[in-house]
Amino acid sequence: MVKSGGNSTAEDMVRVFSVSSGKGGVGKSNVVINLAIAMSKLGKRVLILDADLGLANVDVLLGLSPQYNISHVLRGQKKISDILVQGPAGITIMPASSGVQELTHLSVEQKIMFLDLLESLPVSFDVFLIDTGAGISDMVLYFNLMAQEKIIVLTPEPTSLTDGYALIKVLFQRHGERYFRILVNNAEGENQAKSIYKQISKVADHFLDGISLDYIGSVPKDPHIPKAIMHQKAVIELFPKAPSSQAFMQIAKRLLSSSPQLDHGSVKLFWKKLLGVSV
Ligand SMILES: Nc1ncnc2c1ncn2[C@@H]1O[C@H](COP(=O)(O)OP(=O)(O)OP(=O)(O)O)[C@@H](O)[C@H]1O
Ligand SMILES: [Mg+2]
Repeated sequence: MVKSGGNSTAEDMVRVFSVSSGKGGVGKSNVVINLAIAMSKLGKRVLILDADLGLANVDVLLGLSPQYNISHVLRGQKKISDILVQGPAGITIMPASSGVQELTHLSVEQKIMFLDLLESLPVSFDVFLIDTGAGISDMVLYFNLMAQEKIIVLTPEPTSLTDGYALIKVLFQRHGERYFRILVNNAEGENQAKSIYKQISKVADHFLDGISLDYIGSVPKDPHIPKAIMHQKAVIELFPKAPSSQAFMQIAKRLLSSSPQLDHGSVKLFWKKLLGVSV
C-alpha cells in the first residue's frame, strides 16, 4: 500500500522527489538510480518512477528490460504489482514510458480505479524518486508540480546553467513553486560546484523574489560512472568506494535528514495529486 501523508507524522510520510534539468544529458537518470540505491542502503523502501518520455533510461542503466508499463495498468491489462520491476539493493522501478502521458488524460472512473490499484500494492514505500526528463515541456513541469521536493541537476557547462535557470523560472513564475534543491554533477571539485550554485543563486535571488535554492551537494566527474554504465550497473553498486559513489551516499543522507521543503501547504498523497483526485 502507498502510505498517505494525510494524517501521518513527518517520519511516516512518503517523500516525493523529482529530479530534473533544463538541459539533457546532465546525469539525471544516473543521479536517480544511485540516490535510490543509496537511500535503500540507508533503510528506506524506494520506488523510482521512470517518467522520462524520451528514452526510458532507468531500466537500460540497470540492465533491466521491463515488459509492461503504466499504460498496461491503465488499460486494465495488468495489475500494478505486475509492472513493478525489482532493481538492485531492493529498489523498485515503475516503468512509465508512454503511459505517463495517458495518466494525465484519464476519466474520473479510471483515476479512481488506478488509485484503488495503487492502494492494493503489497509494499509501502518511504521515498519516490521521479526521473522527469529534461527541458520545460508540459510533462516535465507536471511532474515537478506533483513532487513535493524538486531537485535540479546542473553541470559546469554554461548551457546547463542557463537552461536550468529557465526551468526554475517557469516553475516559479507560472506555477508559484519556490523551493528547489540544486545538485551539481560532473564537477571538477567542490569549489567549482559551489561557484556554479552561487551563480544560479545570485541570478535567482535578483530576479525571482522569494525563491529558495538549496545546495545539496556535488557529484564529481568520475570515470567509474561510464565504466559502471558499460556494465549496466549503478556506480554505487559496482564501485561503492568510488568518489561519485561516496558523493551519492552523502547526498542521500543529507536529503533524508533534511526536513521536507514543501511548496504545498500540506503533504498530499502523490498519486492523488498526480491524478487530480481531491484529498
Ligand atoms: N559524474 C559523472 N562523471 C562522469 N560521467 C558522468 C557523470 N554523470 C553522468 N555521466 C555521463 O553522462 C551521461 C549521461 O548521463 P544520464 O543518462 O544519467 O543523463 P540524463 O540527464 O538522464 O540524460 P537525458 O536528459 O538524455 O535523460 C552518462 O552516459 C554518463 O556516462
Ligand atoms: Mg535520463
